[in-house]
Amino acid sequence: MIRICFTCLGNICRSPTAEAVMQWLIDQEKLGDKIQLDSSGTGDWHVGQQADPRTRAAAKARGIDVTSIARHAHSDDFGKFDYVIAMDRSNRDNLLRMAPDDAARAKVHLLRDFDPKSPKDSEVPDPYYGGEDGFNEVLDICDAGC
Ligand code: 4NP
Repeated sequence: MIRICFTCLGNICRSPTAEAVMQWLIDQEKLGDKIQLDSSGTGDWHVGQQADPRTRAAAKARGIDVTSIARHAHSDDFGKFDYVIAMDRSNRDNLLRMAPDDAARAKVHLLRDFDPKSPKDSEVPDPYYGGEDGFNEVLDICDAGC
């Protein structure tokens, strides 16, 4: 089993989107017995909450359900996941600080570094303080990275 955790700041917009898009792709490819997903946030303000209603609505319009409940990223995650995928460089730097050793640090990547069309070190922009377009852009970017 390959275990992947997507991580952003609040765990209510970007990483729940990445998790849901990836789950949709896994379901399409019938890889559910090979890949398991989760998501987390480096901040704890929204722990226990559903994803942002704008995140859920934008995904739903594409037939994708966002079902995650926000949780706080933890150093134990590095023992539970093979990949910890950060949405932006700040998330990545926070994860690298939390990682207990080199093996853990090697699990940390930026989502957009998996998209051959994105320049190295590109970020998934935070849509939280913006308009609806931002949530659609996050969906497109996550789709390309996943
Ligand atoms: P996310 O977006 O990191 O993509 O979940 C945010 C959600 C909440 C906050 C910031 C970013 N916040 O400051 O509460």
